[in-house]
Amino acid sequence: MLMSVLPHVLVLNGPNLNFLGRREPQIYGHTTLTDVIDELRRRYDGTLVIDHLQSNHEGVLIDRLQAAADEPNLLGVVLNAGAYTHTSVALRDAVSSIAPLPVVEVHLSNVQAREDFRHRSLIGAVCRGVIAGFGTDSYRLAVEALRKK
Ligand code: DQA
Repeated sequence: MLMSVLPHVLVLNGPNLNFLGRREPQIYGHTTLTDVIDELRRRYDGTLVIDHLQSNHEGVLIDRLQAAADEPNLLGVVLNAGAYTHTSVALRDAVSSIAPLPVVEVHLSNVQAREDFRHRSLIGAVCRGVIAGFGTDSYRLAVEALRKK
C-alpha cells in the first residue's frame, strides 16, 4: 500500500495562552486553546497535520523551534509567542536560526491598538509575516499563508 505523507504545520503558543477562554475574555474571547487547535485539526483533516505545543517556558519554546528545523514535511511554524514577542531576544534568535523554515507571528489581539509596550515585536522582523487582530481566526490565516507560500 502506498502511504502518502501529509504536510505538517507546527502551531506554537507561548505563555498564558493555555488560559485562553478564561483570560481577559474582553480582549481574547471565550474560545479555549483546545477549541482553537481542534477546529484547525477538523478543518485540515486529511490534508494537513497540525502539531501543537503550548509552553509558559521560553527554553521549551526554543527547544521546539530548533527541533522543527529538521522535521521532514514541515511547511512552517505558526508562532504566538505571547508576551515573549515583546521581550525575547532568545526567541528571535531561535527563529533566525531555523531559517529558511518560515515562521508566521500571530496574535489574537491587534497589538498595535494596545499598550505601547506591545507595539514592538522582537520577532516580527525575522518572521515570514505577521497576522494580528483577527481573534482565533489569526491562526487559520497563518496556516493558509504557510500552505500558499
Ligand atoms: C498576544 C498579545 C501579547 O501582547 C500578549 O502578551 C499575549 C497574547 C495575542 O495573541 O494577542 O499573551 O500574543
